Amino acid sequence: MIKFASVNGEIVPADSACLGITDLGFLRGYGMFDFLLIKNGQPLFVEDYLDRFWRSAHQLKLKVPLDREQLIAHIHQLIGSNGLADASIRLVLTGGYASDGYSPSENANLVILEHEYPTCHPDKYEKGISLLLHEYQRQFPAIKTTNYVVGILMREQLQKAGADDLLFYQNGFITETTRANFFIVTPEGGIVTAGEGILEGITRKHTLMLARKHYQVEMRQPEVEELKTAKEAFITSSTKRVMPVVQVSDIVIGNGKPGPVSAHLLELLKEAETAYLQNDARVS
Ligand SMILES: Cc1ncc(COP(=O)(O)O)c(C=O)c1O
Repeated sequence: MIKFASVNGEIVPADSACLGITDLGFLRGYGMFDFLLIKNGQPLFVEDYLDRFWRSAHQLKLKVPLDREQLIAHIHQLIGSNGLADASIRLVLTGGYASDGYSPSENANLVILEHEYPTCHPDKYEKGISLLLHEYQRQFPAIKTTNYVVGILMREQLQKAGADDLLFYQNGFITETTRANFFIVTPEGGIVTAGEGILEGITRKHTLMLARKHYQVEMRQPEVEELKTAKEAFITSSTKRVMPVVQVSDIVIGNGKPGPVSAHLLELLKEAETAYLQNDARVS
């Protein structure tokens, strides 16, 4: 049970935490967020998430009301108040209160929510997931805006198709899913993932660093046509780590089963997480 949240630097009971109705995130969708995991009370890869949070804020011309040190200390304060060893943290920043309903305020609103640790059914790793192609390009791909309208709107259609998520593409080129980055393994055994038109996932960053030691990596948007000959496909995200994809719309990927490359990268990523948390525990 999550008891506390933070609103503009104040820890408050989660069930009464709120923002006013002139908030620009609420009125105009002028908002952004980030999302990271907490393991044994330690935020995982926190520097990467905060770099991206500040990058998004800069691009949206929003001023984060705390500096980095203060924000990290405040995240720890919230984790301490809720007392969960494993959890997740959502940092939300909006354009603040707009008395005219349009102009961003000098003071952005910062809300920090803690959630339960996200769990993924082990079946998904053993059997792989299926994706549904959907032609769409996120408006500001590099910014983690709060706009997930298309993904949410398509939930019923996804369910009808028996697919787990949408795979976005445009003009025959694949970018990402609603909440994850996408990779293929080519017939030659190389790894291909989009280098632009996407949110640069933190899991993608760590997976690529590990992958480069063992595989040829190409940064370009894979073509939809390449799915037909790909040996494997997988997605990466903070909650799913490295998850195999065995079907995209009516295209079966490889032999229709999770492959060795995604399994290898998942193991390497788990090791990197453990190493990070051990080092972090030593310095903090
Ligand atoms: C659009 C989009 N792409 C990619 C990702 C994966 O990013 P990360 O690995 O940092 O979770 C997310 C995460 O929510 C996302 O929303």
